[in-house]
Amino acid sequence: MSLYALGDLHLHFQVQLKAQRQLTDPVWQGHEERFRRWCEALLRPEDTLVLLGDHSFGRKLAECEKDLDYIRALPGKKILLRGNHDSFWDAKKTVQLQEKLGDELLLLQNNAFLYRDYALVGTKGFTFEGPFYLNRQGRIIDWDREKEAEADRLIEREAERLRLSFEAGKKLGARKFILFLHYPPTNIREKSSVFTRLAQEYGAEQVVYAHCHGQSRFHDSLLGMHGGIRYSLVSGDFLNWKPCKILD
Ligand SMILES: [Fe+2]
Ligand SMILES: [Fe+2]
Repeated sequence: MSLYALGDLHLHFQVQLKAQRQLTDPVWQGHEERFRRWCEALLRPEDTLVLLGDHSFGRKLAECEKDLDYIRALPGKKILLRGNHDSFWDAKKTVQLQEKLGDELLLLQNNAFLYRDYALVGTKGFTFEGPFYLNRQGRIIDWDREKEAEADRLIEREAERLRLSFEAGKKLGARKFILFLHYPPTNIREKSSVFTRLAQEYGAEQVVYAHCHGQSRFHDSLLGMHGGIRYSLVSGDFLNWKPCKILD
């Protein structure tokens, strides 16, 4: 039994694609087929696949049906996290959405799922992504304070949701945690955040995140071991569509 993760499928079987990168960058060409083949080669029915958000470019659920069918048809148990593009999924109506989707797609929002003796916990997360203002040497000298204040409100709400998820994991009897976030836990000028502090507080062994696309963004946040916690970026284009094994 193994646990795999990947984020940012950005499927669009039913809507016209406007994302320039996805139209031109070779890493995105035929990515649906490449990811499906990797999953079929690696995953067994007893395995679990966590998809870390930005599942679909569809705006409403009716525009995402084929994308969700594609995910349903992948091998293993599927757990889905919300990304910033997933407008078909209103966080406050997750229970109703879960009823509609059925138990082949499990939604991770204010809850937790057991994997062996671990609780899989998570939330979309958030981080302030600028704009940052640079000097001639390319060093950050200032940033948009208004946007930062807006981001702080979203970060606070997401931290509350994450706390609910950790507590749900504890109620399931788990004392070991793997934390999934759609957004990176920190931005380019941070070494820590409320998300890294919650990971420490609850003793998470790993923090797994996505959202960062393209070479220039792959090193925006923490990678490898920090404070005894392993941080991994699993956005699909970073992994070249091969799901990342998180646990055996
Ligand atoms: Fe994305
Ligand atoms: Fe995203």
